[in-house]
Amino acid sequence: MKSLHFLFLSLIAFFALTSCEEIQQKNVSPTEILADSTFDNHSYSNVQQIRTKHLHLDIDVNFDNKTIYGVARHEMVNNGTDTAIFDIKGLKIQKITIGKTKEKETSFMIGQWDKDSILGQPLLVKVDRTTKYVNIYYQTTDATEAIDWLSPELTAGKEFPYMYTQGEAILTRSWIPLQDSPANRITYSAKVKVPTDLMAVMSAENPTKKNDEGIYEFQMRQPIPCYLIAMAVGNLTYRKLGPSCGVYSEPQLIYQCVNEFGDLPKMIRAAEKLYGKYQWEQYDLIVLPYSFPFGGMENPRLTFVNPTLLAGDRSLVSVVAHELAHSWSGNLVTNSSWDDFWLNEGFTVYFENRIMESLYGKEISDMLALIEFQELQDEIKAIEAGDFPDDTKLKLSLAGRNPDDGMTDIAYTKGAFFLKTLEQEAGREKFDAFLNSYFKKYAFKTINTETFIAYLNSKLLEPNDLEFNTDEWIYEKGLPENCLKIVSPRFEQIKLLADRFAAGEDIFKKEIKWIKVKGRKKKKKQINQLTRDKYIAQEWQMFIRRLPKKIDPALMRNLDKHLNFKNWGNAEIMNEWYILGINSGYEDIRPNMEKFLLKVGRRKYIAPIYQELAKTPENLKWARGVFEKAKNNYHFISRNTVQELLYKKK
Ligand code: BES
Ligand code: ZN
Repeated sequence: MKSLHFLFLSLIAFFALTSCEEIQQKNVSPTEILADSTFDNHSYSNVQQIRTKHLHLDIDVNFDNKTIYGVARHEMVNNGTDTAIFDIKGLKIQKITIGKTKEKETSFMIGQWDKDSILGQPLLVKVDRTTKYVNIYYQTTDATEAIDWLSPELTAGKEFPYMYTQGEAILTRSWIPLQDSPANRITYSAKVKVPTDLMAVMSAENPTKKNDEGIYEFQMRQPIPCYLIAMAVGNLTYRKLGPSCGVYSEPQLIYQCVNEFGDLPKMIRAAEKLYGKYQWEQYDLIVLPYSFPFGGMENPRLTFVNPTLLAGDRSLVSVVAHELAHSWSGNLVTNSSWDDFWLNEGFTVYFENRIMESLYGKEISDMLALIEFQELQDEIKAIEAGDFPDDTKLKLSLAGRNPDDGMTDIAYTKGAFFLKTLEQEAGREKFDAFLNSYFKKYAFKTINTETFIAYLNSKLLEPNDLEFNTDEWIYEKGLPENCLKIVSPRFEQIKLLADRFAAGEDIFKKEIKWIKVKGRKKKKKQINQLTRDKYIAQEWQMFIRRLPKKIDPALMRNLDKHLNFKNWGNAEIMNEWYILGINSGYEDIRPNMEKFLLKVGRRKYIAPIYQELAKTPENLKWARGVFEKAKNNYHFISRNTVQELLYKKK
């Protein structure tokens, strides 16, 4: 930190003499020296010296130019420094002032891009040692990665444009100039101007109706990390689902949304019963357009979800349980750096599974956990064979890399199985009491892995005289021996069925049944022995997984004839079916798969399909053709991932 301070002093002298353009021309690079700041490898900000405590955004959302214009007004706690450092990426800074009522323009300097352009640029602002208010006048650009601007054709209604933001992990800095580290918590307010036929919502207190002026005001009174600031603007409507929860979507989808998410009030009650009161007053969902790169994003008070969740049979609602669980793990207790990402996601997957168990029973929650556990085993193998084998540790070292690299099944599922194994060791009652106290103790705080370990030792392990291999789970690679094992009898059944089918048995053979007609006479009738509704979606998913990696296309055709996997409402199933189809040379899937790739932007689905296609030259060519047509339908996050998969330099 010392050298950082020294840098500031010399920069300040520099400020007085030169403009920021001149400094850029002279190739001054604060980047290397700023690397000394160790609190967060993914932010340039100097929050220990001066930090934002409240942000007020005053912005205009312009759909004609696909640009946000506005001011980010930072109310700061200044420990007596003369430089405030913010993160920016792809933003144009017009001017910066200091002061609340009387604003005075101040000088600023923009550092160089970091070498892989992951972090963006540091924005160094000259302040007085007593400065509390910094106002940054700015606009977004084409290089703003957080925002997806959609033309009307890409929406459900096809009449109005739409936009939404995605902040996690480090993209908020591309739509708001701020100190973009999860280690700092801020409250925020906003005044947002949008076209009068659209409505704006944020991760804050929200309107439920459009107004004639197109001006919306927002408040987030609880302190949150910046990656949770989010906004969506579109032709939106709202329906209540319970006393303090509801759903936003385009009017065309609202009926489906109300049906799909009808269990939300029950989920909230179950979550509160497990780990304490919901702290954010209101919990709403917004169903975004298909381009949304994730299944869900836990923006506080307003979870963003992908429309692929609208399966029609509530078979994907565990994603909602997951995002709801983040209202405790992640949003209340937050990872202080992206190396501690498992604290957000591992706890959330554990909690999600407990909510699912409360609502639908252990048989179901075990099946869901096993599906993820299989993925974890594959992921461990893939990571071990890749460039960063250390990534199978829970505690990561992502310095110099994109924090997105930490978004693997390790944080999610190894993290959750660590907690499941601990639960088994301590007993559920004690473990739940421990988690309850953990969420209370660290509510509205950011913590790292080490703080968690110390708390675990002092509150659970030592008082109960428990020995546990915590360090092995967290700091070592792979899966420890004592990992909890789940057995699902229903999955064992469906695997047998898959084996019989793969061995050539006609599992769809019709059965002859005698049925009564008019109470007396009996009539012979042929009944389909095996129909889709005999099993739930997760069982069919396991059925597909159990088949050999490559099977006779005739078998796949037969399955499609009876079950129509290639065009099922459940995207998890379609996704795995397409991958099996690519491997097996089953060409019938192409039209549906292409339609899927053109429509859906969720990275979890499209990336594995493109990756599989990239394995042979003919398929790669086809995949590139589809991608060129589809890429404008994707958010930057998915576009970028697929681009790398299809055009990676060898
Ligand atoms: N917070 C994550 C999404 C995320 C993580 C975005 C890291 C950017 C960087 C969200 O809660 C999540 O985990 N979504 C999952 C759903 C889930 C049920 C595992 C997804 O989108 O697949
Ligand atoms: Zn999550």
